[in-house]
Amino acid sequence: MTEANSRKADYPLEAFFLERWSPRAFIVEPMPDEDLRTIFEAARWAPSSFNSQPWRFLYAKRDAPDFAKFLGLLIEFNQSWAKNASVLAVLVSKKTFLPSGKTEPVASHSHSLDAGAAWGYLALQASRLGYAAHGMTGFDIERAAVDLNVPDDCRVEMAFALGRPGDKSTLPESLRARELPSSRNPQSTFVFEGGFPTR
Ligand SMILES: Cc1cc2nc3c(=O)[nH]c(=O)nc-3n(C[C@H](O)[C@H](O)[C@H](O)COP(=O)(O)O)c2cc1C
Repeated sequence: MTEANSRKADYPLEAFFLERWSPRAFIVEPMPDEDLRTIFEAARWAPSSFNSQPWRFLYAKRDAPDFAKFLGLLIEFNQSWAKNASVLAVLVSKKTFLPSGKTEPVASHSHSLDAGAAWGYLALQASRLGYAAHGMTGFDIERAAVDLNVPDDCRVEMAFALGRPGDKSTLPESLRARELPSSRNPQSTFVFEGGFPTR
């Protein structure tokens, strides 16, 4: 069966799914703009309800003044490793969309789901380029909305760090042992033919 990155799939699988993971050790370096654009381009091609494309990405490059603002939104634990990332970003989804031929926006049922799909595409593309995207909900969501000028009809979904995986010796001691690709629950725990089993 497919094996990669100390992970083993239960069924045949494209290896890049196993190769993507969420390290915390990053090489301290800027990311070339063309790589960053390719990573965001992957998000662009995600599917979404009515092709409404409700994802919005706000970001700061490590050599830009805004980097400190993004870093300051994270909880202390996440700051301890994400400070070395090449890019910090926040993913926001727009809760309404304008159906074609209509003049008034309507509520979207799936804005978060659609934004999640875009994040998944982005993370896989980053991995294919030799980078890693590490998601975070450990940040001040209310303050992010204010400090990043997020409009009222948007939901702050997650933050993430982007960078090239580095040596775990650069991490705080407490994080070194956790710097390993994780495994997954078996399909039997989350795939059900015909509906949930009767209780
Ligand atoms: C929405 C989201 C929020 C996350 N929040 C955090 C976080 O705040 N801090 C952290 O260290 N990791 C965070 N993670 C990383 C997850 O723990 C990680 O993706 C999960 O354990 C699976 O590991 P893998 O990505 O290496 O396959 C987050 C991931 C996602 C997708």
